[in-house]
Amino acid sequence: MCGIIGISSNKPVSASIISSLKKLEYRGYDSAGIATLFEGEIKEVKSEGRVNTLEQNFDLKNLKGNIGIGHVRWATHGIPNSVNAHPHSSHNVSVVHNGIIENSTILKKYLTTKGHIFKSQTDTEVIVHLITENLKSNELEEAIKKTLKQLHGSFALGIVFKDIPDLIVGARRGSPLAVGYGPSENYLGSDSYALKSMTNKITYLDDGEFCIIKKDQVLFFNEDGKKINKKILELSSDESSYDKGDFKHFMAKEIEEQPTTVKTGIKEYVDKTNSDINIYNFPWNINEINSITLIGCGTAYHSCLMAKYWFEELTQLDISIDIASEFRYRKNRFKKDTLYIFVSQSGETADTYAALDLCNKNNMKTCAVVNIIESSIARDANFVLPIHCGPEIGVASTKAFLGQILILYILALKLASLRNEINQKIYKEKIKDLQKLPNLIEKSLLIDNDIQAISSTFNEAKGSMFLGRGLSYPIALEGALKLKELSYVHAEGYPAGEMKHGPLALIEDGMPVVVLAPRDSYYKKTISNMQEVIARGAKVLLITNKSKDEIVSENIWETIEVENINDDLLPFLLTIPLQKLAYYSALKKGYDIDKPRNLAKSVTVE
Ligand code: F6R
Repeated sequence: MCGIIGISSNKPVSASIISSLKKLEYRGYDSAGIATLFEGEIKEVKSEGRVNTLEQNFDLKNLKGNIGIGHVRWATHGIPNSVNAHPHSSHNVSVVHNGIIENSTILKKYLTTKGHIFKSQTDTEVIVHLITENLKSNELEEAIKKTLKQLHGSFALGIVFKDIPDLIVGARRGSPLAVGYGPSENYLGSDSYALKSMTNKITYLDDGEFCIIKKDQVLFFNEDGKKINKKILELSSDESSYDKGDFKHFMAKEIEEQPTTVKTGIKEYVDKTNSDINIYNFPWNINEINSITLIGCGTAYHSCLMAKYWFEELTQLDISIDIASEFRYRKNRFKKDTLYIFVSQSGETADTYAALDLCNKNNMKTCAVVNIIESSIARDANFVLPIHCGPEIGVASTKAFLGQILILYILALKLASLRNEINQKIYKEKIKDLQKLPNLIEKSLLIDNDIQAISSTFNEAKGSMFLGRGLSYPIALEGALKLKELSYVHAEGYPAGEMKHGPLALIEDGMPVVVLAPRDSYYKKTISNMQEVIARGAKVLLITNKSKDEIVSENIWETIEVENINDDLLPFLLTIPLQKLAYYSALKKGYDIDKPRNLAKSVTVE
């Protein structure tokens, strides 16, 4: 998604803006640009494609100025090209924008009647001209306040002015924005990661607020234009997590980091001495909760589905799950005895945040399972369960998925124990088993050679299917999502038992089908479903766990066996081959693994 940088300094800023834009590349984008203010002139340099292309632009070398804004754009209104790239400027105002202006057509008509001329197809350009118009009859703060009130939709903005040369204005509604503090310079950024190389002192703007950033001062205002004070947070500065090290891609590194992800999660939540789970400061009485609704998008939604199986197995709670973009617009029956859990790696996904906001406005109990603890979702939920997996830079989620399902499993176990719905001996055994996971994940990672060979078949096929039942069904969905987003081949996840209700018609000679059939209570049923696809010509890659018993089927194309652990925890191990399958398929095709086409790491627009 789009990313913003702004710097107000006592020295030239263009090089720092470019290096911060590179930090934002992980978000996914298709054009980039920068504008600085020098000797009373705003100068823009923009280009289609990557920041590297922008860097090679001859004009960039001559871009002077101690104040500037930069942007990476993920196209929403208008194709990705240098005209539509941000910043957008009038004769005296330049703007970078994340988000969508919903009333841009009406505003454009109004501004055209006032003589404003538009150059791009973007919604952002109306903001530029609206501010320009409002500055004709208002002082700066009044003009900003008025402009923000006229805009419908979501935005994070960075604005510079030709005639007010010493400041940048930042504003937020619906899209995250942070201010950073440095020595003799201050910054604006759409996330703390972009600012981290320059400072670890950060203030997050809340919805409706705006700020004025000078090199030696930052002022904050609420939506009525009243000055407000805001807290400065100190971020931990673990730069090494942002480095690929010896790995070719962040995704490869993040897959290999999963034993550590799980180890850290266990360290945070498990009391090894007493075989118990610690969830500190849980803000509700356990008897107040009779049902749970889990909400997320994409991979995070698959974590919600995974959790549904565990919660239903371990507790008597009523469990629902929902895709955030559906939940936010449905006529929900909000219930006081429901706990709403929002699952998100970034904590900034627009739909998930909107769903949380809706629940908060209805005074519901809200809990966030997030990775980025400074994020909007973490800040606005009543209670936060961090997954502690460190920065996930690859657009395709891997370690955050395992981190999310780990915390949700831990929560399910704890609630089962608190509600006396699990025998204490079994509870403690399950906690002991959890501690075996990091080691078993490590062993399951040693399958690169097998998977590399298999991945070509998936690349060459028209499409593939991923089948599972019970606890393996969410993993089948996740495996298919990983393959399609990285390799751009059609892949469909399905409950194995559903095949004969339609999708079996897709199976043809040589079609690769992944069957997840661990030796759990669904095993025999899944094996029967596997036979049905083999009989119709499918090339089956069976993923199961190790066993002395032979698999009673001939004609299986390939088999991968993961380690053994109790049935609840097998999904962790089954996930690994699927992540590697997607990785190696994309690697063979030479695709941009960490930044797949059309996708963004943090989806901050609807
Ligand atoms: C897929 C993927 C996405 C995200 C989804 C939600 O690999 O990464 O499907 O899971 O966009 O993002 P978060 O978890 O940041 O809310």
